Amino acid sequence: MRGLRLVLLPIVTLLASVVKASSDETVYCNGTVGACPDDKPCCSQYGVCGSGSYCLGGCNPRFSYNLSACMAMPICKDSQTIFNNYSSKVANQYTFLGDASANDWIYEGSIVDYNDEQALLLTMPQYSSGAVLSSTRYMWYGKVSARMKTSHLGGVITAFIMFSSVQDEIDYEFVGANLTNAQTNYYFEGDLNWTHSSNVSVSNTFDNYHVYEIDWHEDHLDWLIDGQVGRTLYKNHTFNASTGQYDYPQTPARIQLSIWPGGTNTSAYWTKLWAGGEIDWNAPDIKDPGYYYATVESVNITCYDPPAGTRQNGSAAYRYVDSKNFTQAGVAITNDTTVLGSLEDSGFNPQSGKSSSSSSASSSSTSSKPFTTQSGASKSKSTSGSTGTSTAAKGSSGDSSSSSQVPSGFVQNMKSSSSSTAGAVSLNLDANKLLHAFVAVAGAALAFA
Ligand SMILES: *[C@@H]1O[C@H](CO)[C@@H](O)[C@H](O)[C@H]1NC(C)=O
Ligand SMILES: *[C@@H]1O[C@H](CO)[C@@H](O)[C@H](O)[C@H]1NC(C)=O
Ligand SMILES: *[C@@H]1O[C@H](CO)[C@@H](O)[C@H](O)[C@H]1NC(C)=O
Ligand SMILES: *[C@@H]1O[C@H](CO)[C@@H](O)[C@H](O)[C@H]1NC(C)=O
Ligand SMILES: *[C@@H]1O[C@H](CO)[C@@H](O)[C@H](O)[C@H]1NC(C)=O
Ligand SMILES: *[C@@H]1O[C@H](CO)[C@@H](O)[C@H](O)[C@H]1NC(C)=O
Ligand SMILES: *[C@@H]1O[C@H](CO)[C@@H](O)[C@H](O)[C@H]1NC(C)=O
Ligand SMILES: *[C@@H]1O[C@H](CO)[C@@H](O)[C@H](O)[C@H]1NC(C)=O
Ligand SMILES: *[C@@H]1O[C@H](CO)[C@@H](O)[C@H](O)[C@H]1NC(C)=O
Ligand SMILES: *[C@@H]1O[C@H](CO)[C@@H](O)[C@H](O)[C@H]1NC(C)=O
Ligand SMILES: *[C@@H]1O[C@H](CO)[C@@H](O)[C@H](O)[C@H]1NC(C)=O
Ligand SMILES: *[C@@H]1O[C@H](CO)[C@@H](O)[C@H](O)[C@H]1NC(C)=O
Repeated sequence: MRGLRLVLLPIVTLLASVVKASSDETVYCNGTVGACPDDKPCCSQYGVCGSGSYCLGGCNPRFSYNLSACMAMPICKDSQTIFNNYSSKVANQYTFLGDASANDWIYEGSIVDYNDEQALLLTMPQYSSGAVLSSTRYMWYGKVSARMKTSHLGGVITAFIMFSSVQDEIDYEFVGANLTNAQTNYYFEGDLNWTHSSNVSVSNTFDNYHVYEIDWHEDHLDWLIDGQVGRTLYKNHTFNASTGQYDYPQTPARIQLSIWPGGTNTSAYWTKLWAGGEIDWNAPDIKDPGYYYATVESVNITCYDPPAGTRQNGSAAYRYVDSKNFTQAGVAITNDTTVLGSLEDSGFNPQSGKSSSSSSASSSSTSSKPFTTQSGASKSKSTSGSTGTSTAAKGSSGDSSSSSQVPSGFVQNMKSSSSSTAGAVSLNLDANKLLHAFVAVAGAALAFA
C-alpha cells in the first residue's frame, strides 16, 4: 500500500501538470488585470502568462506570480559579434533554455545569412510580423554599438533598442519612409510617453552601413552615430516630482534588433501615420529576395560596473529582489542559475524538468531551425523564410484621441501562449497609450508543434 502510494503520487502530480500545461486559455498580466497565477507564473514581455521561455528574457517581475518566477538574468559580458555566416549560432527564442554561455543571441521570426555582405538579415516576408534578434545577456550600463543597414519603404520599421524586464527602454527607430532620419527615444517602466523622442539626421540608412551606438551610464546616456554624439540625456533632467523618482532607463536590459510592420491594415491610425503609411506587400523586395530586410553586420558590447551600493551575492546574474521597487535600487547580483531544465519549468524550480526532458534541454545549444534560417550566397528567395505568418500585426485601436501623440516604441512580437498554435493576440492598450504592435510569429507556433 505504501509503495503504491509512493508510485501514484508522482503520477498524479505529473498528470496535473500536464493538464495545466496543456490549457490553451491565454492568461494576461499587466497593471490592469494583475499578476500571473502560480501555474503560469511568468509574465512575458508581451503581457501573457506562461512558463519556460516566458520566464527567460523579458520576463516581467512586476506582473509575474512573485519574485521567484522569472529566472535570473545572465550578467553582462564584453563581446564582439560579427554576424558572418552566423545564423546557425542564433538560438530559437522558443526552445532556448537560458544558457547564455551557449548562445549570445536568440531570434524570433526569420533570419537569413547574407554571405555577400558577411551579414545577417532580419527578414519580414509578405504579411508577416518581421523578426527580432535579442541578446541572451543583459547589460546594466555599458556601451553597445551595431553596424547595420535599415530596411526601407513606407510602413516598415527597423529598430535597435535596449529593453529591460520592467520595460525601461532606449531606442533607435528607423521609419522606412524616411531614410535620412534616426529617431531616438527612451521610456521608463513602460510608460509610453512619446514626447521624449528626438531626431538625428544621417545619410541614407538603407544604402549605407552606419554604426549606431548607445552609451549608457548611470547619470547620462548618449546616442552616437558613426562616433558622433547625436543626443544626450541626463538622468537629473528626468526627475519626476510626483513620484520622487527619475524616469530614466536604469534596469538591466537586453539588446534587441528588429524589423516590424508599423503600417498594416490593422495598425492604429497614429501608428500608421508615424510609420509612413501602409506597407506595400507587393513591393519588389517581396518578390526578390522575398522579404523586406534589415542587415546586421556586427554588434559590440562593453559592460560598465553596476551602480555603487548594488547588493552582490555572486557574479553570474541580475535579479529583482524588491517586490515594491523596480528601479535600479531593486536589482541585485547573484549566482542564481539562469538555465531552465525544460520548457515546462519556471524560476520556482528551474531544474525540475532536467532529467525527464534532457533532449529538450540539450536543444538549447544546438537548436534546430527547420525553417527560419537559411544560408546562401545572396539574398535569394527563401522557401523557408517565406513561411511567415499570415496574421497581420495588430495595433491597439481607439488611440486617436490625442492628436499630439506620435507613436513610437518597439514592436512586441508575440505568441499567445506556449501551447497555442493560434494567431495574433492584440493587447488593447488604453486610449492614451498607443501601441507597440502585437503579433504572432509563425516560428513560435512551429516551435511547439
Ligand atoms: C513564490 O511562489 C512559489 C510557489 O508558490 C514559492 O515556492 C516561492 O517560495 C515564492 N517566492 C517568493 C519570493 O515568495
Ligand atoms: C558557414 O558555417 C558552417 C558551419 O557553421 C560551415 O559549414 C560553412 O562552410 C560556412 N559557410 C561559409 C560560406 O563560410
Ligand atoms: C567593434 O570593435 C572592433 C574592434 O575594436 C571595431 O573594429 C569595430 O568597428 C567595432 N564594431 C562596432 C559595430 O562598433
Ligand atoms: C525626414 O525627417 C527629417 C526630420 O524630421 C525631416 O527634416 C526630413 O524632411 C524628412 N525627410 C523626408 C524625405 O521625409
Ligand atoms: C511626458 O513627458 C513630458 C516631459 O518629461 C512631461 O512634461 C509630460 O507631462 C509627460 N506626459 C505624460 C502624459 O505623462
Ligand atoms: C522626427 O522626424 C519625424 C519625421 O521623420 C517627424 O514626424 C517627427 O515629428 C520628428 N520628431 C521630432 C521630435 O522632431
Ligand atoms: C545634470 O547633470 C549634468 C551632467 O552630469 C550636469 O552638467 C548638469 O549640471 C546637471 N544639471 C542639474 C540641473 O543638476
Ligand atoms: C510621473 O510619473 C507618473 C507615473 O508614472 C506619470 O503618470 C507622469 O506622467 C510622470 N510625470 C511626468 C512629468 O512625466
Ligand atoms: C559565485 O560563483 C563564483 C563562480 O563559481 C564563485 O567563485 C563565487 O564564490 C560564488 N559566490 C557566491 C557568493 O556564492
Ligand atoms: C526605490 O528605492 C530607491 C532607493 O532607495 C528610492 O529612491 C526610490 O524612491 C524607491 N522607489 C520606490 C517606488 O519605492
Ligand atoms: C488586411 O491584410 C490582410 C493580409 O495581411 C488581408 O488578409 C486582409 O484581408 C486585409 N483586410 C482588409 C480589411 O483589407
Ligand atoms: C491588460 O490586459 C487586458 C487583457 O488583454 C487588456 O484588456 C488590458 O487593456 C491590458 N491593460 C493594459 C494596461 O495593458
